[in-house]
Amino acid sequence: MSKTIIISNRLPVQLQISDGGLSAIPSVGGLATGMKSVHSGDDSLWIGWSGLTDEDIPNILEPQIDHALRELNCSKVRLNKSDIEGYYFGFSNRTIWPLFHYFLEYSEFELDFWESYKAVNQKFADAIIEAADEDDIIWVHDYQLLLVPEMVKAKRPNATIGFFLHIPFPSYEIFRTLPWREHILRGLLGADLIGFHTYDYERHFLSSVRRLLGLDVSFNDIYLEDRVIKVDSFPMGIDYHKFSEAAKKSIALQGKHRSDLQKKLDEHKRSAPGTKLIVSIDRLDYSKGIAKRINAFEYFLNKYPEYKEKVRLIILAVPSRSNVPQYQLLKREIDELVGRINGELSTVNWTPIWYFYRSLPFENLIDLYTSSDIAWLTPLRDGMNLVAKEYIATRTDKTGVLILSEMAGSANEMNEALLINPNNFEEQADTLKQAITMPKEEQMARNMFLQKRLQRYNVEVWANEFMNSLKSQRKAVGTFVSE
Ligand code: ADP
Ligand code: G6P
Repeated sequence: MSKTIIISNRLPVQLQISDGGLSAIPSVGGLATGMKSVHSGDDSLWIGWSGLTDEDIPNILEPQIDHALRELNCSKVRLNKSDIEGYYFGFSNRTIWPLFHYFLEYSEFELDFWESYKAVNQKFADAIIEAADEDDIIWVHDYQLLLVPEMVKAKRPNATIGFFLHIPFPSYEIFRTLPWREHILRGLLGADLIGFHTYDYERHFLSSVRRLLGLDVSFNDIYLEDRVIKVDSFPMGIDYHKFSEAAKKSIALQGKHRSDLQKKLDEHKRSAPGTKLIVSIDRLDYSKGIAKRINAFEYFLNKYPEYKEKVRLIILAVPSRSNVPQYQLLKREIDELVGRINGELSTVNWTPIWYFYRSLPFENLIDLYTSSDIAWLTPLRDGMNLVAKEYIATRTDKTGVLILSEMAGSANEMNEALLINPNNFEEQADTLKQAITMPKEEQMARNMFLQKRLQRYNVEVWANEFMNSLKSQRKAVGTFVSE
């Protein structure tokens, strides 16, 4: 039986070793939550990093770790501390991530990072080559592994390889600044199908291929020697059922069964009836526009002072990549901003911003979604933004308002949300007012369309469409090559 091999930097769980022994926590981020729903059954193997470096793993625990991962149909790639420094914190998150999110000034072009990135991509490729049988389908994910398709194809020319990028692909003018741009493109072209969240990212990629490599591109096919590579967009969906069912469960919990967070939110509603809760949930990342959002909230409260004591902003920021200097600076900036605004505007009865810097269990995430009247998501640039989709899926009574940045990939499919430019404070202040005063019927009408779309194009359909396209591409190419 052929299997699907999923390869990403992180496995769906992250292992930790503490006094109590080995434990596993779910990985955070769109890739992990989305692909988790696709990875099930014995016909799929997920290869990635376990979250532990070689130095963290005592020899004695190695078999236990491999066994635990095998039970989850996962297999680890061994990485050492210096790999993580150069490849993960370095090239992936100090070069590619900022560049692909248009933070050109944050992007560092360090030869050492690049060397480490190449070496670690080779480690992932070797792990695939060792695990894959002839007719397996290989699906490589995201910006940490851009060179892997070519490395696998070099050793396994007949392998069926798909690649999906979970972040934006920037315009040619941005991408061309990368010193290793041709290598990156050639790395990706080892795949038979290359997928993006949106048509714009696809277009940017094709333009770079044409202009930097001078290859023949016809519509969305790239002609490379004896191969044809297909490029297409597949906007990632969510596991709609999982989120709506979890929401029903959260809402139904009564009395002492309610979580501590729910009790706190209930208490808030009791003590300040009519107050609106606005929620924002992101990894603490500069691409998410968290600092600007806080500034825009202050602007709103000054423009419409009648809403003081009538709204509260809950910010859940999940710690992320905290070894990277820009993330440390951002953490400091947000701490200071929240402290200053709460210090200046709080009253005896009211704190404008509740700020949580931690990862919450899935159930609490759902509690936040279901308790909030408004979700306000303001990425300055975002490949997709699944939080926007998850919020809508949890609104089982169809109320709730989504305010979403135009710069998120998901905005393309969520026209009924209130779309904003995160740099425009005036517009956001007015949009917040519109959201707070939006009649229930209008909320329900908008969410009805959004929910229908998300239900229809869920993560399973997304994965199937990608897989079917990959299989048919291989068939077509097989014919093309043999002719
Ligand atoms: P990104 O992939 O850039 O982090 P997305 O919005 O696409 O942004 O995906 C974030 C994912 O992480 C969502 O699926 C969300 O449910 C999950 N997530 C966010 N915060 C938490 C948290 N505190 N605990 C668990 N999962 C979280
Ligand atoms: C985004 C990326 C993923 C990444 C996730 C979390 O979703 O597209 O590849 O896994 O962020 O980031 P981290 O660096 O913690 O893996």
